[in-house]
Amino acid sequence: MKAGLDDFKPEGRRVLVRVDFNVPLREDGSIRDDARMRAALPTIRELMDGSAKVVVATHLGRPKGRVVPGLSTRPLAQHLGQLLGREVTWCPECVGSEAEAAVAELPAGGVLMLENLRFHPEEEVNDPEFSAQLARLADIYVNDAFGTAHRAHASTVGVAHRLPAYAGRLMERELGALGGILEDPVQPLLAVLGGSKLSTKLGVIDNLLPRVTQLLLGGGMAATFLKAEGMPVGRSLVEADFVPRAADLLGRAPHLGAEVELPADVVVANSPEAGPGAARVCAVGEVGPEDMILDVGPRTLDRWVGLVSGAGTVVWNGPLGVYENPAFATGTRRLAEAIAASSAVSVTGGGDLQAALEALGLSSGFTHVSTGGGATLEFLEGRELPGVAALREVVVAR
Ligand code: 3PG
Repeated sequence: MKAGLDDFKPEGRRVLVRVDFNVPLREDGSIRDDARMRAALPTIRELMDGSAKVVVATHLGRPKGRVVPGLSTRPLAQHLGQLLGREVTWCPECVGSEAEAAVAELPAGGVLMLENLRFHPEEEVNDPEFSAQLARLADIYVNDAFGTAHRAHASTVGVAHRLPAYAGRLMERELGALGGILEDPVQPLLAVLGGSKLSTKLGVIDNLLPRVTQLLLGGGMAATFLKAEGMPVGRSLVEADFVPRAADLLGRAPHLGAEVELPADVVVANSPEAGPGAARVCAVGEVGPEDMILDVGPRTLDRWVGLVSGAGTVVWNGPLGVYENPAFATGTRRLAEAIAASSAVSVTGGGDLQAALEALGLSSGFTHVSTGGGATLEFLEGRELPGVAALREVVVAR
């Protein structure tokens, strides 16, 4: 178990908190969805209330080591202040004399936000000198950036080797919820995987297959599996290179005790932008040559909703259809409603799905909505995340 906020005294200490405030922005630069920021508030509040000097650091976007004004963290600092109901000072640098001076002025219980870590090329290559510069800003390091824990960067790994390094409350929650799925889920365990690309989910399927009772496959990637089953898929997006892997997974599943289900019926149209009038429901064997599979059908949903109500744990990654278009959002919405209404332990994640659940107002019905995208997938693949590995373990007295 990782050491956390209960394992050190924050009072008067300078604490560098790595958060993942890599939030989606609108074209005018304003924040489109602040869920990741809200998720890190418990850690920041607890440290403030414990009279720490809180230094918050994040990346935003992929500026590739250059200063990109549209990716400055300044608006994030302002928004964080609003969420906390307290002033958050902002420093136009994340290392060096200006940042050190800003930290020196910080009162106990105060919060300072640094400029975008990725404005420096040294961040992503885990440069030792850059890590040392970050470490000079603090006495203690707290990682609450689960969403970035799959990156071995200076602010997630390098600095953690130079300061006493602890997990924040969000990190703890993520590891507990996702770890529970892999280690000790309430049975039966039902996994639902969607999204457009099978290639990004293969590792997760491999790792979950021996653990699940049922695995339901929807979203665009279902087309690759249907193709592997010899079904017509029309103009649906199929990852042709992965059809043999899909066939192999379907063949292996019964030997591992897992029941894998593909949609029995689907919603099709000739384009993802089609209006509701152009959408048609058909059995999977009846997809026409001009059709694209854009959602799962009602018969499939009735069955999958029933499986949810009998599950002990549901883990769900990736939408079931092109949910951005209301004509193809029914699958994602109905499944979300069923999970939210069920008594199963429910864990979901992945940027798209998190945004869809927020828009549907159903996030609170889930036991845990992961803030990670790539990090959540790598965790479910069973890989050790470098940002987690770098944190201290709890020392158990013998
Ligand atoms: C994410 O959004 O998944 C994380 O913030 C990591 O961002 P990255 O993929 O640019 O490293």
